[in-house]
Amino acid sequence: MIMVTGGAGFIGANFILDWIAAEGTAVLNLDKLTYAGNLGNLASLTNDSRHIFVRGDINDRPLVGRLLAEHKPRAIVHFAAESHVDRSIHGPDEFIQTNLLGTFNLLEEVRSYWNGLAQEAHSAFRFLHISTDEVYGSLNADDAPFREDTPYAPNSPYSASKAGSDHLVRAYHHTYELPTLTTHCSNNYGPYQFPEKLIALVVHNALAGKALPVYGKGLNVRDWLYVGDHCSSLRSVLARGRAGETYNIGGNNELTNIEVVRMICGELDRLRPRASGTYADLISFVTDRPGHDLRYAIDATKINRELGWRPQETFATGLAKTVRWYLDHAEWVRDVTSGAYRNWVEQNYLSRGNT
Ligand code: NAD
Ligand code: DAU
Repeated sequence: MIMVTGGAGFIGANFILDWIAAEGTAVLNLDKLTYAGNLGNLASLTNDSRHIFVRGDINDRPLVGRLLAEHKPRAIVHFAAESHVDRSIHGPDEFIQTNLLGTFNLLEEVRSYWNGLAQEAHSAFRFLHISTDEVYGSLNADDAPFREDTPYAPNSPYSASKAGSDHLVRAYHHTYELPTLTTHCSNNYGPYQFPEKLIALVVHNALAGKALPVYGKGLNVRDWLYVGDHCSSLRSVLARGRAGETYNIGGNNELTNIEVVRMICGELDRLRPRASGTYADLISFVTDRPGHDLRYAIDATKINRELGWRPQETFATGLAKTVRWYLDHAEWVRDVTSGAYRNWVEQNYLSRGNT
């Protein structure tokens, strides 16, 4: 059995579905079910005894301690986080509570549990911390991609809180020899992504005939990775990664935001043409994100060399699957975009002028 935190969110849910299909062993899923957590993502496991769901906070140390003692996981895969940069700009508090303090509280309970394990289980145990490429800061157009030894330079409250959690994980390995693994992944996209992140938001708005908001001039660059490829990389790191090491994970798909938005429009034009015109007519350039990082790019040589992992999807194949998934799951989208979602859209977009 492994324990996953944040397994009802976008990547966590994809990871659990992938894990149960590929490994077949049980998963204990601890998730607070914030606005981003949705048990509907795991509906296909409702009657599967290999998925054990517990609603709770990683900051609840008595709960975490009890779960560890009762289920005796051989590994923790730690996804739980506040993950949206724009929300961290509007309100950083939750980011510090969960990403920094939550990781600290989790580490403390895990350390105590791990110290009590018998020798074989003690040596086999792993704590896999899911971090982000954003901790390395922003690149200029001709800078070399991020490597594992690129210095930290986080620029948003989100990336700073993730950087802080990475330092704690590093320190727990260095000081207590907790067998940790840390991954730094680029932008994910795919099924079950909450429509606050660029690709999911653009698909959702386009289908609703709403404006497609592109920050600034749309020239910021991200390296997109299909979520299924991220999941397979995490299985490789957990199985064969060296304790105490960090691994960068990327998709070799550097694109400007405007290129991404135009490709989504092209895909929708093909699969669900509008009555007149193209979805690209909905593109609207709006006031930029404060402190907006210009470019992220990943050098994934280490994970490829040491673990033999490489992504299977190109951006074209991954995007086609993703757009098709959203078209086929209108009900899922309806469920997650009711209520509080509308408040967020008003808070983030109504005050942005067109540029
Ligand atoms: P998400 O926002 O979709 O999901 C986060 C999940 O964590 C939700 O289910 C939420 O309910 C849960 N959660 C939040 N606070 C919690 C708490 N205190 N206790 C327990 N559960 C809590 O996030 P995501 O996009 O799936 O990202 C997952 C992880 O991967 C994060 O750590 C993020 O930093 C990292 N990451 C994300 C991306 C990306 O492109 N989305 C890329 C690289 C790394
Ligand atoms: O790089 C990994 C990170 O990728 C993860 O750590 C984060 O959890 C994840 O949210 C993501 O961060 P970004 O800020 O890069 O993702 P987002 O989808 O919010 O934005 C992608 C790009 O699109 C970014 O340059 C901002 C821009 N954007 C975003 C939104 C929501 C727009 O132009 N318009 C929008 O409405």
